[in-house]
Amino acid sequence: MCGIVGAIAERNVVPILLEGLRRLEYRGYDSAGLVVVEEARLKRLRSTGRVAELMQISANTEGSLGIAHTRWATHGIPSERNAHPHISRNLIAVVHNGIIENYESLRARLVKAGYEFSSDTDTEVIAHLVHSHYAGGMPLMKAVQSSLTELVGAYAIGVIAADNPDQLVCARRGSPLLLGVGIGENFIASDVSALLPVTNKVIYLEEGDLVEISREGYLVYDAEGKEAARPVQTSEISNESVQLGNYRHYMQKEIHEQPEAIANTLETACNSHSIMPGIFGAEADSCLAKVDGILILACGTSYHAGMVARYWLEEIAGMHCTVEIASEYRYRKSVPNPNALVVVLSQSGETADTQAALSHAKLLGHVHTLAICNVPESALVRQSKLRFLTRAGPEIGVASTKAFTTQLVAMFLLTLVLAKQRNRLNAESEQQHLHALRHLPAAVQKVLDLEPKIAKLAERFASKHHALFLGRGMHYPIALEGALKLKEISYIHAEAYPAGELKHGPLALVDKEMPVISVAPNDALLEKLKSNLHEVRARGGELYVFADADTHMNEEDGVHIMRMPEHAGYLSPVLHTIPLQLLAYYVALQKGTDVDKPRNLAKSVTVE
Ligand code: G6P
Repeated sequence: MCGIVGAIAERNVVPILLEGLRRLEYRGYDSAGLVVVEEARLKRLRSTGRVAELMQISANTEGSLGIAHTRWATHGIPSERNAHPHISRNLIAVVHNGIIENYESLRARLVKAGYEFSSDTDTEVIAHLVHSHYAGGMPLMKAVQSSLTELVGAYAIGVIAADNPDQLVCARRGSPLLLGVGIGENFIASDVSALLPVTNKVIYLEEGDLVEISREGYLVYDAEGKEAARPVQTSEISNESVQLGNYRHYMQKEIHEQPEAIANTLETACNSHSIMPGIFGAEADSCLAKVDGILILACGTSYHAGMVARYWLEEIAGMHCTVEIASEYRYRKSVPNPNALVVVLSQSGETADTQAALSHAKLLGHVHTLAICNVPESALVRQSKLRFLTRAGPEIGVASTKAFTTQLVAMFLLTLVLAKQRNRLNAESEQQHLHALRHLPAAVQKVLDLEPKIAKLAERFASKHHALFLGRGMHYPIALEGALKLKEISYIHAEAYPAGELKHGPLALVDKEMPVISVAPNDALLEKLKSNLHEVRARGGELYVFADADTHMNEEDGVHIMRMPEHAGYLSPVLHTIPLQLLAYYVALQKGTDVDKPRNLAKSVTVE
């Protein structure tokens, strides 16, 4: 959360900073601000609105060195005084992503030393700390270095000084930051997408790195303070992939990108005649052969993908599997099984709780670790022994869509690899699964064709305050995901239950005002689900059923059936996700909410 951009160039960097912020807005959008050095003075502009507002007030600002920030509030309400950059005595300016845990004691000390605080943020202590060293005569890099030794917590920071127009200093520990390398100009950003209009040459900084940047070059110092060489990589993300194109919202675009995202994710795995462990990394064959159970750790939508995977792993691969919410696992006294494979599932690869859960698992003695992630070089990928990159492309909409379905695909591949290693998958079944996977992008495309019908259906939801989602078996997590999507972007209170639990409580809520959405694939549990649906109908509840083509259920008064084009067997959860994403999207459109930037949320939650 929070996005940082910085630039040092021969040209005016304000448009670069603003475009970078616009692209990073998904990381937080409570306020935005920038500062440039203008004739040996710091010129700061801040806005409690969106980046668009900051653009409006920046028309007369120019400078060839600057830093900028888009905020997701942690310490201090969203307000102009709390917006970054924070400045100390008109000399030092700082932008920060992360949380400084010991800021209260530092603040007390700095106040005693005569520093006046003008915000409620934890970040402001960094500005004053750097100032205290810099004003005492230290070079900027050394002043930042000394300040960092006093900080406890997570940070990615960018720092400039009014009297030093030729230098930008940045550092990271626990929060992401990368360097963009240009010709005669250099940049920093939280995410490569911010820099694509100016460069695709990037350096992913490592934990504890501190960098001194000029127009002509940069010097990286590692956590020990020694000069370090970091490879310059060419980002594969195209500038077009982060543009909205003809779509109204990123979420809509990303829903529609799912056939391609799934096809890309499957490319290496399905190009050969059999499923090979090597798709999870060079050491996967021996590592996966040793494990006797699976522990999946994740948050939010990624947690739901883990929940679906549990059904596959236990049923197809015969592996015991536990799925835990990362923020719970990290603080719980659990009984570890060091032979289990720890799978961290994450779109961003930087979610603080998932990172902490992985570290906790390692402390408990887990050595077999696998990251399934959509962002190469992210913290989770770097910290895991095995890795699988979903190739969904950049996901900008805060509500996760294509990252989820590609995570499901990755987890299905893992299931097949483990099943094969354990002789639970004969050649014929393997070919059937491969065939189903290869067909999946086309099957998803057919579901997307239901869009106009779902848009119509959504009109009935706009006036509702609550909704209930039901599913059974591996479709129960899909019901959870459908409810999460609806609440995230339409602000309708939505709950999901395994349909069998209905009569143990939630049935009390059902009346004609409560729409009940049911995921009803044609599987072994269908008849049981139908009985649950009768229970709803008998209480006057309005039913919306997403049924497979071959499910014998008919429309009647109060029962709306949306028929899916085909039944996908084990992969059915992937298909059944799509209409629920579309439903949430069109209900949000009806309600006029900010689909891509729902209130109070952020795309990557890098704080606890
Ligand atoms: C945030 C996002 C969710 C996401 C969750 C986990 O809450 O808004 O969409 O599912 O973080 O993120 P991760 O990047 O770890 O999958």
